[in-house]
Amino acid sequence: MNNVEKLLLEFKKKIKNLDTIHDLETIQIIYLGRKGLINHLLQSITNLKSEEKKDFGLKVNKLKTSINQLIGVKRQQLIKKPDTASYFDITLPGKQYPKGSLHLISNAIEKISDIFKKIGFIRMTYPEVEWEYFSFDSLNMPKGHPARDDFETLFIDAAESKKYGKMILSPHTSSCQVREMMRVGKPPIRMINIAKCYRPNWDVTHTPMFHQFESLCVDKNINITNLKGTIDYFVKEYFGEEFEARLRPFHFQFTEPSFEIDITCAVCLGKGEISGQQCKVCKSGWLELAGAGMVHPNVLKAGKIDPSKYTGWAFAFGIERLIIIQTKMDNIRILYDGDIRFLKEF
Ligand code: PHE
Repeated sequence: MNNVEKLLLEFKKKIKNLDTIHDLETIQIIYLGRKGLINHLLQSITNLKSEEKKDFGLKVNKLKTSINQLIGVKRQQLIKKPDTASYFDITLPGKQYPKGSLHLISNAIEKISDIFKKIGFIRMTYPEVEWEYFSFDSLNMPKGHPARDDFETLFIDAAESKKYGKMILSPHTSSCQVREMMRVGKPPIRMINIAKCYRPNWDVTHTPMFHQFESLCVDKNINITNLKGTIDYFVKEYFGEEFEARLRPFHFQFTEPSFEIDITCAVCLGKGEISGQQCKVCKSGWLELAGAGMVHPNVLKAGKIDPSKYTGWAFAFGIERLIIIQTKMDNIRILYDGDIRFLKEF
């Protein structure tokens, strides 16, 4: 057997038991590399007689071609049957990791911000640990005023400020009104504040922490029509075209006149009855959802805005109430239980 045949035989033996691409590449270098066995064999041509050279050259070239082909075949085999040590099947579908989703409240907040963004209202946030002044005094509810009792308040055990009174957990979003007037300095104001509020209540319709969103608009010639128009726009965008809003006279210390806002009941769709029976949820076709009114002149004054030049409106909706209506949920506390089975439904 000549050297060429021996080399081929040896090579075949070597690659037969190979089982990784890496090992195949090592062998490839040993045989076909620049300083490899084939080149070494070719160099030995100088020792041959001239009549033998041609034949030898041809044989070595044939050997090279064969080795190349054998490597190609082996590579295909190894790709199809990957080595088990580093087994990774790229064709298998990936593992499905459970996907989270936004909490109902976060979802509502995003939707509300988008709706108001479209009509040029900027979204602001204010302290939730607040001074009495911004939640009450600046809103036409001076110390000792009985209207303060309506906003059962959690007080913070902290030093009192001479100017702003005690520290509290803000019981409503209206503390944003004078803060925003002070921040902007001069109207126009078109602002929306979506925030947490706190009152010490815990039953099927109340949690001690809840969310409101408050909208404030102050400019020249702002009137109730603008207020009603904005509320209608919001209700239709949020709930759908078939929903209506109505204003019902009410009293708030910081708005004059004041209203409560009712919207079409989602359960009986405004009819007040379901197959001849009075609707249990609303009894009248309407559900109370928010407070609103024209900003009281004393509030504008507290915000250093001249009430003879400017007027404004404000309203605030409870976000949990929006969700109760949408989902017809009968226990609001489930929103904050963190029960994954409930949260997964949305
Ligand atoms: N802050 C009031 C409440 O929590 C709602 C309200 C906001 C009323 C703005 C009028 C204007 O009940």
